[in-house]
Amino acid sequence: MLIHVIADEPAKISKIREMLEPRHTVSASLIDDAPKGVTAASLLVDADLRNVETIASIRLALPKVRGVGQRLFIVDRRARAAVVQAYSLGASSVIPTPLDARSLQQKLAMLYPTIANDTEDAGPPTVVSNAAAALASMFDAVLNGRQLDFAEAQIATSEVIDAVASNGLTTWLDNVRRYHEGTFQHCLLVTGVAVDFALSLGFHAGDVKRLGVAATLHDVGKAAIPLEILDKPGALAHGEMAIMQGHARLGYDALRGVGGVPDEVLDAVRHHHEFLDGTGYPDRLTAPDISDLVRVLTIADIFAALIEVRAYRPPMAREKAYSILQEMAGPKLEKALVTAFRDVALTR
Ligand SMILES: [Fe+2]
Ligand SMILES: [Fe+2]
Repeated sequence: MLIHVIADEPAKISKIREMLEPRHTVSASLIDDAPKGVTAASLLVDADLRNVETIASIRLALPKVRGVGQRLFIVDRRARAAVVQAYSLGASSVIPTPLDARSLQQKLAMLYPTIANDTEDAGPPTVVSNAAAALASMFDAVLNGRQLDFAEAQIATSEVIDAVASNGLTTWLDNVRRYHEGTFQHCLLVTGVAVDFALSLGFHAGDVKRLGVAATLHDVGKAAIPLEILDKPGALAHGEMAIMQGHARLGYDALRGVGGVPDEVLDAVRHHHEFLDGTGYPDRLTAPDISDLVRVLTIADIFAALIEVRAYRPPMAREKAYSILQEMAGPKLEKALVTAFRDVALTR
């Protein structure tokens, strides 16, 4: 496959060439030396997205590479604003640093599973990119203490509802897992699963929307959690776990002052980790205080977390994930809802 690399330093180009050649054909240019008439299936951008001049140069360079299905941006994981910038420049997917050959190859293999058949990849559906960009902008607002745009969450959610209703949950899950990773992948999966669960239960349109918006926003407090903890592979230490669990309250605090956010949505953001038996957090609620919306969202959240695609482990099969929910049904999750979730988990 032909990949064109745009970078702000020659060393970055050399490093990417080493990782990709000879398996892929690589052409490259520095951002100020914009290529003319290059055609490539995929574009890889590795540059400092905190630099305004660099961003302007990238904006000029991008349209000059033709035929591109995928625009992959390599982004410093410590600079979260860079992720927002990447999406605003038209990234179809973001690869976090530190970059290593194995994860880059894995990403390309995931994006181009049919490469042996020489099939072109048209890139992520617009609705997936739009929803990811909306999440990026909401996370950026929370991280920087700005007020989040609730209308943006509503619009992104409506688009997800339309996509899941028209193309089915499996298509949504496949597209999200193929093009996104980490917290955005998780939030997009939870929203798709929650919306499909609501549709399968015959919820009215207003309730589908309310649940969908709660799912879109449920983990927005993670914007304030350090990335070393958020993206840590494997188990968290005790102190790290306490910080991580703070995200439910932080999300609630970030949304409380935003106009128009319904009380049920605020409640769902704060309480999506509560369990019926009182073993959840942050308020150790028990069954009488846990709303139906929260009960549905919690099931969608756990299921989505189990089927996530992570670089360091294979994704869990939907059947296995559902069997874990069945084990939690009764003491922690509402049994009737877990039974009703079967169709969503396995067949839709
Ligand atoms: Fe959460
Ligand atoms: Fe979550």
